[in-house]
Amino acid sequence: MTTQEPHNITILGAGVIGLSTALVLAETYPSATVTVVAKHLPGDRSIEYASPWAGANWCSMANDNGPLEKLDEVTFKRFGQLVDGQNVWGCKVVQKGEGNEAGIGRMGMWSFFDSPIEETGILSDGTNKIWYDQLVGGLKDISKENLPKDVEFGKDWPSTFRINTAVYLTWLQSQALSKGIKLVRRHYTSLTSLLTDLPSTSLLINCTGLGSLHLSDIKDTNVYPTRGQTLLVAEPKTPINRMYEWTRQYLRSPARIDPVTNYVFPRPLGGGVILGGSRDDNNWSDEWDEELGQKILEKCCELCPELGRPEDVQVISRNIGLRPSRKGGPRIETETGKWKVPVVHCYGHSGAGYQSSWGTAERVLELVQKTQTSGLAKL
Ligand SMILES: Cc1cc2nc3c(=O)[nH]c(=O)nc-3n(C[C@H](O)[C@H](O)[C@H](O)COP(=O)(O)OP(=O)(O)OC[C@H]3O[C@@H](n4cnc5c(N)ncnc54)[C@H](O)[C@@H]3O)c2cc1C
Ligand SMILES: *[C@@H]1O[C@H](CO)[C@@H](O)[C@H](O)[C@H]1NC(C)=O
Ligand SMILES: *[C@@H]1O[C@H](CO)[C@@H](O)[C@H](O)[C@H]1NC(C)=O
Repeated sequence: MTTQEPHNITILGAGVIGLSTALVLAETYPSATVTVVAKHLPGDRSIEYASPWAGANWCSMANDNGPLEKLDEVTFKRFGQLVDGQNVWGCKVVQKGEGNEAGIGRMGMWSFFDSPIEETGILSDGTNKIWYDQLVGGLKDISKENLPKDVEFGKDWPSTFRINTAVYLTWLQSQALSKGIKLVRRHYTSLTSLLTDLPSTSLLINCTGLGSLHLSDIKDTNVYPTRGQTLLVAEPKTPINRMYEWTRQYLRSPARIDPVTNYVFPRPLGGGVILGGSRDDNNWSDEWDEELGQKILEKCCELCPELGRPEDVQVISRNIGLRPSRKGGPRIETETGKWKVPVVHCYGHSGAGYQSSWGTAERVLELVQKTQTSGLAKL
């Protein structure tokens, strides 16, 4: 190890972003001490912790023809390597029966849109194409007779990913433990108090999601919640062989008037089926909205006939999560000079934290490497 390498890395946050970042850094700097500090860790179910509430699947919303698409593309490839049993940053997934211990699997999807394609936000800036068309195996148009009413067009995705978030977070955590990453549970009200507590920290990575708003020394007022409601329901007797999504025209509309966007994600490993959902910006409410919940259930049954009638669906839990959104997109950048150690910010992934997780972690690594070669910091 050269003196240029960070020897004491502290990561604030143990969501999918903090944990993935910790794994990449620990693998790259094997002699560094890597510590993840967080108020919430895998297994917790708090509205302040977004990761357990995600659906989750890979369905890129990036259309910048640039860095955001790259984050999702890298992650798509890493998910594929993991599912195929390959080594990803020193992590390997063990096959278990029909699934694997990480709770991640490939699956096709039908996605529907209720507006002309130019208005959906799925076309990339500059190219006017769907950038992940080939990545997911070549999108096909869904024939008219298979389109629900009020739908303008649909796309058949041969293969993308679905994630049982509870299993995946636990897997990330156990990978972290097996690499010698330290996990510390603590809540910090400021960065200053964290650095006082952990004085040997030579590099700090800020993966606090929405939690950041409560850090007193800097507040990023671009950060806001996008509330989402989902239902976890029992697996129907008729197996569901694909995911469904009905994207309302919200992506580019600043108002996002209709908070419902529907999806049905069967989760692997007895994870049940997640029915979603809603996207309601700037709403912190942790109270279940029964009317919205009923609408989600009915719309999902229309989308996915295998579920049967709404009244026959067994609801296991009612979930509310707050996506850590940010005006201008996620902030992944280094801040030097302000604190006694360099800080890499990494928050604001909104509804894309899983599908961009590995790409994000690799981007953080690039920033860490740059921080060192530029000699800005005494690491
Ligand atoms: C309903 C819903 C559906 C979703 N579906 C998908 C999907 O299909 N695909 C997808 O990719 N994404 C999806 N998402 C988004 C995804 O869940 C988030 O983008 C992701 O979980 C964000 O992860 P994070 O690590 O940034 O934040 P979090 O998971 O919120 O983690 C933040 C961490 O920081 C800690 N922390 C914060 N402040 C402090 C502090 N001051 N001191 C100590 N610790 C602190 C917290 O305790 C926690 O450990 C969905 C989200 C919701 C709500
Ligand atoms: C960490 O990120 C949050 C946004 O999530 C920001 O408000 C906060 O100021 C950052 N904390 C530090 C210590 O830089
Ligand atoms: C927030 O969401 C809840 C649940 O859907 C709803 O009842 C409430 O009116 C919303 N609040 C705001 C300010 O929009």
